[in-house]
Amino acid sequence: MLFQKHCSYCHGAGGEGGRGPDLASGRFQHARNDEELFLVIRNGVRGTEMPAVRATVDEVRALMAYVRSLRVRGEKTSSGDAAAGERLFAQCAGCHPAIGPDLRTSSFRGAAFIRDSIVKPEAEIAAGFRAIIVTAKDGVTVSGIRLNEDDVSVQLRTADGALHSLLKAGVVSIDRSRPSLMPAFAGRLTEKQIDDLTAYVMGMR
Ligand code: HEC
Ligand code: HEC
Repeated sequence: MLFQKHCSYCHGAGGEGGRGPDLASGRFQHARNDEELFLVIRNGVRGTEMPAVRATVDEVRALMAYVRSLRVRGEKTSSGDAAAGERLFAQCAGCHPAIGPDLRTSSFRGAAFIRDSIVKPEAEIAAGFRAIIVTAKDGVTVSGIRLNEDDVSVQLRTADGALHSLLKAGVVSIDRSRPSLMPAFAGRLTEKQIDDLTAYVMGMR
């Protein structure tokens, strides 16, 4: 619905292109990864007709998911058992959706992507969900999702949902070496359980 409202008059009702380029080819010039796709949709492409969109972060994520789906549409979904996956999802529901993204906007990326995300979350970090660990001069460390950062301050959201804003002047270090707060499930779940979870997530949309 958002795509039809904001984008289709340039990119075509099915993303096939028009005044703006074909978005269904899966080949992007500016949006080479998720972070760039997010920024292209949110801010537009300077010096071209591609405008910034007036939308919330969640809406931009939904638009990203839709743009991705233009390529994966029709791809075979997982062979797993979605009902079994739903029961297994109890161990995921504490984080999704809250400190982790709403997975209804992830399924459009296709089953292979969902599977990879479960097995190896840090391989690709969902836009807006990059984790950092900030150590302040008084020795206190805060670990959470980076919401905003500039030269002066950094804002993050911890797993309990609380927002923290720290002045850079009072910060000793920012550790970016573990970018996902999600544990890797490779080795903790069987292949069948991963397939079942994938089938369940694919059906969430
Ligand atoms: C007024 C016309 C217009 C509208 C409205 C528009 N776009 Fe674009 N879009 C363009 C043009 C033109 C480009 C190519 C920019 C360039 O020359 O590189 C573009 C580029 C893009 C790209 C980058 C493609 C690449 O190769 O990396 C994406 C992604 C995109 N648009 C998505 C969207 C989405 C999503 C919306 C709706 C929120 C939208 N656009 C609305 C005209 C438009
Ligand atoms: C401790 C919290 C936590 C738990 C538990 C957790 N996740 Fe996540 N998950 C996250 C965070 C944070 C992200 C975003 C960072 C990233 O992409 O790795 C994420 C990302 C994802 C993504 C990629 C979403 C996207 O659009 O890129 C998928 C799929 C996913 N999780 C599925 C699961 C499943 C299935 C389980 C249960 C087996 C699970 N998660 C358990 C926190 C968690």
